[in-house]
Amino acid sequence: MFHRTPHADEFAEPGFALPTCALGVATAATQIEGGHADTTWHRWAAEPGRIADHSTPARAADHWNRVAQDTALLGELGVKHYRMGLEWARLEPRPGEFDAAAFAHYRAELQGLRAAGIEPLVTLHHFNNPGWFEEIGGFTHHHALTVFDRYVAAVLENLGDLVDEWITINEPNIYAVKGFIEGVWPPGHRSPGQAVAVMQAMATAHIRSYRAIHRANPNARVGVANHLRVFAPAVSWNPLDRLGARAGEYLFQTAVVRAMSVGRFLAPFVQPDEVDPGRYYDFQGINYYSRSAIRNFADTTARKASVNDLGWEIRPQGLVEVARWVHTAYPGPIYVTENGTADAADSFRPLFLYDHLRAIAESGLPIERYYHWCFTDNWEWAEGESARFGLVALDFESQQRTVRDSGRFFADIAARGGVTAESFQRFVAGRTYPRQRR
Ligand code: FCB
Repeated sequence: MFHRTPHADEFAEPGFALPTCALGVATAATQIEGGHADTTWHRWAAEPGRIADHSTPARAADHWNRVAQDTALLGELGVKHYRMGLEWARLEPRPGEFDAAAFAHYRAELQGLRAAGIEPLVTLHHFNNPGWFEEIGGFTHHHALTVFDRYVAAVLENLGDLVDEWITINEPNIYAVKGFIEGVWPPGHRSPGQAVAVMQAMATAHIRSYRAIHRANPNARVGVANHLRVFAPAVSWNPLDRLGARAGEYLFQTAVVRAMSVGRFLAPFVQPDEVDPGRYYDFQGINYYSRSAIRNFADTTARKASVNDLGWEIRPQGLVEVARWVHTAYPGPIYVTENGTADAADSFRPLFLYDHLRAIAESGLPIERYYHWCFTDNWEWAEGESARFGLVALDFESQQRTVRDSGRFFADIAARGGVTAESFQRFVAGRTYPRQRR
């Protein structure tokens, strides 16, 4: 499917055409909406010392009140695809009680996107829970799956006619590791057993939601946004580091992607009675950011690596490595549902975009979508307002939005269907990545 017919010379080196991958941007409800919904993260952010800069999600990008402005801005960037989330706590503020006004708000937002020619990809669960769901133990509660089903059914009934593309769950592995192993995200537990149970429950919730969405809309495209990393031994010849990398990869991603994609729950999971092996994805959603260098079974950053503002290694070819692995195991369309970088100065984000999109263009893989994280700067969970991922800069105080150079470059790529040699000169030439100083 070509968006336009590229002229070969237009994309001469160092340019490249991107004919089969459509561009979009991604957000998550809690990270942009603002307001005082009673959610797990609102409660967590109210506890001293939980958030790096003491901010809360109450401000964020005030998107709840600026939907029209932000939809217009998406139009200015020229994107035809927008990944957005729903805040479960707004829709179901008390167990089984749904809020018609909140549904009406999202309906209007979805209608506005469609009217602007932008296709929504809607995330049902992105790290955050209603406060009441957290109180009963969240996904570890024995009724969690029926509770989640009820929420999904209400969403389908009220919004289903406006959405054809869904992400059921965002990054179950990050949710489990941060919240149940490292204890740095809510609920702040340190229990590997619970982490496994949570991933198992989320994988089952995905499969139940996958079925429910397809019953409501047989043409829907449904997937998971899985956080995938490259795992490498910090010292390539060290047998312990090699073992650590393989074990980390299996426990963090291989097993959970398998469970969610084809309903096969291998150890440490247990095959749920209700799940028959089958195909439970219409696309493979990949959130890709970085690589883990495993040293003594711990996650570290490789020496002298290129790094972003948060110290995450920048490794563009890793995106293709994880996509190739997924595609070999679970063939079908691939959506890069998130990829981006923390770069407050916007000094290397254009280069980051260039390198990752080029890797996609040269991969030969059916990567149909690329959603950049993030549309605007946003509230970055435990980093608060301090990590800047936006193609659009946000002044949190005034709520002024300013398109960064990288945003202009992104719009240029979307409009032309690739990077021209001239655009390379204008946006990318001369930029370099910061280096890890050890
Ligand atoms: C991903 C999350 C997303 C955002 C980016 C930076 O793990 O899905 O919400 O925080 O990281």
